[in-house]
Amino acid sequence: MENSTVKLERQDGIAIVTLDRPEALNALSLKVFNDLEAAFLELARDPSLRAVILTGAGKAFVAGADIKEMADFGPIQARAFARRGQSVMRLIESFPHPVIAAVNGFALGGGCELAMACDFRIASENAKAGQPEVNLGVTPGFGGTQRLARLVGRSLAKYLLFTGEILSAERALQIGLFDEVVAPEQVLPRCLEIAQTIASKGPVAVSYCKHAVNIGVEATLAQGQDFEAELFAQTFATGDQKEGMAAFILKRPATFKGI
Ligand code: CAA
Repeated sequence: MENSTVKLERQDGIAIVTLDRPEALNALSLKVFNDLEAAFLELARDPSLRAVILTGAGKAFVAGADIKEMADFGPIQARAFARRGQSVMRLIESFPHPVIAAVNGFALGGGCELAMACDFRIASENAKAGQPEVNLGVTPGFGGTQRLARLVGRSLAKYLLFTGEILSAERALQIGLFDEVVAPEQVLPRCLEIAQTIASKGPVAVSYCKHAVNIGVEATLAQGQDFEAELFAQTFATGDQKEGMAAFILKRPATFKGI
């Protein structure tokens, strides 16, 4: 895509989506949301896709929503901007394949929100995370108050939201905001390793696991189990289930086709 703020690379079923606006620390503007959405919609049409890695160019993952773009907003524009950001985060969260955040640096405000919309977060030792919006006199607008409370618990979420404290990677790992912390040069290789592991599994099953967890965390246990049983049943309509179980019985590696 010409003049895109998002770079898209693909190899062997794994896509790397890089937010590529390093001069503004990859701040999320309306253009970035359009480009990011276009990249994920294009990926959604790729039948060979198995996993996505989302990262940032330069020293930041994303340093937040674009403060320069927002500065003169009134409430109506601000609401529309929040809704736009939320819809792109939702697209990523509900994307049919796993999306791994490779948090290479600052994940602040909208950047922390974007990382939380991914399925899990592998971060650099140099990364920093937080919701510093109160420093600007605003609240998070892309789901931060909601996903942070679900991820780290309501008390800690409130503490972080009220104080705007920026966390070290080590602290973010300790509270479950990051899932793994590695040396800076290991962030992409580690994400690729995880993505390759995922790509070797039954693709329909992986996709259903994501969907089941996403639905289940918002439902009662009984509703979640009903949904799980239905997805489990559906996997028995795939060739991959026949292949996976035959391969086990015949003591050979399985070759999945995603159908
Ligand atoms: N929006 C727009 N531009 C940004 C930006 C942002 N969120 N963050 C950084 N930039 C720009 C800077 O203005 C600067 O541009 P210029 O060279 O043109 O001045 C460039 O990126 C480099 O940034 P710094 O010089 O500030 O880099 P630094 O290393 O000294 O500091 C930082 C890094 C601590 C991350 C600092 O840039 C910073 O505090 N950024 C803002 C973080 C923030 O408050 N994020 C929340 C935004 S609000 C939000 O996200 C709301 C929402 O949920 C909807």
